[in-house]
Amino acid sequence: DKAGHKHFMAKEIAEQPTVIGQAIGNYIDHEGNITLPDPGLDFATLDRLTLVACGTAYYACLTAKYWFEQIARIPVDVDVASEFRYREPPIPARTTALFVSQSGETADTLAALRYCEGKADRIVCVVNVPESSIARESDLVLPIHAGVEVGVASTKAFTCQLVVLFLLALKAARDRGEMDGDALADHLSALRSMPSVLSTALEANAQMQKASLKLAEARDVLFLGRGLMYPLALEGALKLKEISYIHAEAYASGELKHGPIALIDKAVPVVVMAPRDNLFDKTVSNMQEVMARKGRVILISDRAGIEAAGEGAFATIELPSVPDALTPLLYAIPAQLLAYHTAVAKGTDVDQPRNLAKSVTVE
Ligand code: F6R
Repeated sequence: DKAGHKHFMAKEIAEQPTVIGQAIGNYIDHEGNITLPDPGLDFATLDRLTLVACGTAYYACLTAKYWFEQIARIPVDVDVASEFRYREPPIPARTTALFVSQSGETADTLAALRYCEGKADRIVCVVNVPESSIARESDLVLPIHAGVEVGVASTKAFTCQLVVLFLLALKAARDRGEMDGDALADHLSALRSMPSVLSTALEANAQMQKASLKLAEARDVLFLGRGLMYPLALEGALKLKEISYIHAEAYASGELKHGPIALIDKAVPVVVMAPRDNLFDKTVSNMQEVMARKGRVILISDRAGIEAAGEGAFATIELPSVPDALTPLLYAIPAQLLAYHTAVAKGTDVDQPRNLAKSVTVE
């Protein structure tokens, strides 16, 4: 049932304010403490986290690396499951291995998990399907409460994965004495306001639809972001190529001059994700390098960012302003909707893109 939407993907994008609210509610108790299902997890007793996943779930892990490192000061390795499993990486003592999977059945992720059995201290999973193989073989199962996701391109599962991983990073910071109770309360209250912030972001739909007309004409599209926006740029590029079949690539903005800038001309739209955070000026200077070579910039930022740097952009998409740590949840919306509208404009099969399966149970 598409609940009045043209596609499951549109429905699942629109559901995000509700489902992330549920995900948040399931992990915070009445006293405002972060609570995990049994047997729980004490981050004070681990030295390293290894995060492993595929596709969009991998980008959720990449985002979480920034959170765990910056907020909780835990060293984090992140890897795609297909590389991890065959590389046979050494697993140092006091490592917790964490696997993220919507379906809980992805063959490579499951194999990576089995590789860690008997090597990692603990095996934790973040899944949407608690009855799945990955959940069955984990010591601790953290459900994301996204509800059934039908569209092949993952949307609401991604934002719910981000919620659970962000809460874990906050808990880790508390467990390790890196954050006091007041700071935690501030983070949680900002997180609790995200459902309504995402609803506001969904109202910028018309701007995204308009910008997507430019994308629909393109053969190649570049996505740029720094810091927490780098994994979001990767996710935006993946969504676009999956459902519109347009070649899209993402780069960390700072990598631009190490190669990809050679691609820029007036035929290449460049989507720049740049909230007005501490890295904004750096990203903007990369964006100006693109404009100087006639690249068509679609700038996604907040009001202050667009006022400061929107001039000369081909299009701007204005989002609300949120604390820096929460920008990934918000910028997921344009990552998804730009791809969605581009695919609709091109007339491709949004919910069942060619060559793709919802659950990749063979390697
Ligand atoms: C992208 C997408 C895929 C999955 C990947 C992992 O939109 O849906 O990249 O994210 O196949 O799947 P799960 O999360 O089920 O392990």
